[in-house]
Amino acid sequence: MSAEATTGSGRLAFTPEVERATRAIYERVRNVIPGVEWPVHAPLIAAINELKRQRNAVILAHNYQTPEIYYGVADYRGDSLGLAQEGARTDADVIVMCGVRFMAETAKIMSPRKTVLLPDMEAGCSLAASITGADVRRLKARYPGVPVVCYVNAYADVRAEADICCTSANAVKVVESLDTDRVIFIPDGYLGRYVASQTDVEVILWEGTCEVHERFTPQDIREFRRSRPGVHVMAHPECSPEVLREADYVGSTSGMIRHIETAQPDQVVLVTECSMSDNVAVQFPDVDFVRPCNLCPHMKRITLANILHSLQTLAPAIDVAPDVAERARRSMERMLAVGRTTATA
Ligand code: 13P
Ligand code: SF4
Repeated sequence: MSAEATTGSGRLAFTPEVERATRAIYERVRNVIPGVEWPVHAPLIAAINELKRQRNAVILAHNYQTPEIYYGVADYRGDSLGLAQEGARTDADVIVMCGVRFMAETAKIMSPRKTVLLPDMEAGCSLAASITGADVRRLKARYPGVPVVCYVNAYADVRAEADICCTSANAVKVVESLDTDRVIFIPDGYLGRYVASQTDVEVILWEGTCEVHERFTPQDIREFRRSRPGVHVMAHPECSPEVLREADYVGSTSGMIRHIETAQPDQVVLVTECSMSDNVAVQFPDVDFVRPCNLCPHMKRITLANILHSLQTLAPAIDVAPDVAERARRSMERMLAVGRTTATA
């Protein structure tokens, strides 16, 4: 492999200065990034970290980003709820979202005066694509007076139609905060069913699915247990109810990390997106991670090369129409007021 990284603006070399500047980062990730790859990542990491300072930019990375992004350049790492909270409180001029478009929209909604960059605008999401604002208006007409709870994996115009947002970390608490017998839950049908299993509130579902989590089957879980006796199985609530029934723990991506800290299992399988296990393995070097590999093609559109390009050009920048942003912000703020929970996390 060449010891040079290619970007839109030319080649960046793995010089002794770059090696020194990135050595501490490499020491941290050496159990998940092969040494032969470092000369490709390191020049991009050094260039991004330098430009980030010049631009007064902050880089937010979701737990599904690759380790060279997650540990190499991110200032904040977390789940959708954590990214939303950080997007609201940062005082940087520029936010670079290493995640997908609905996450960048969240940052823009929470910080409308900041420049919010998404290095690849095609970074979508099957859940967000499953529903439109017009669909929500039809649901509201069909169930008048029933509050709409919107999982944040939805675009701004959909969140603008909702009464309140939630993430996988606080969905049950948000539903219960409404003090109502029935809610409309959009757009993830599996997360909605999981919420329904944890509360007495009746949940009217929209049948969106995550293309990554819907691929896991109960047979997969049984096979992990057969091949790794004693393995602790942790699943994301975007998986089907049949998969969740087989799991030892159900929670959001950050909930899984906290659970490993407290349960201290020897062997773990994270039934979720591929890169998560690499990132968590860095934090818990003594835990043995079984690595199922279901990649999110949208998350994987973000690369070091397009992060650098985005910081160089301050593009592509996310825009949300002010009236839509204003209404979406109200449903996000209602969620943030409910606060972080451990109920489903
Ligand atoms: P959380 O990180 O909030 O659990 O979300 C998972 C996910 O699929 C985000 O796209
Ligand atoms: Fe969407 Fe699923 Fe990818 Fe998350 S993992 S961005 S929910 S498709």
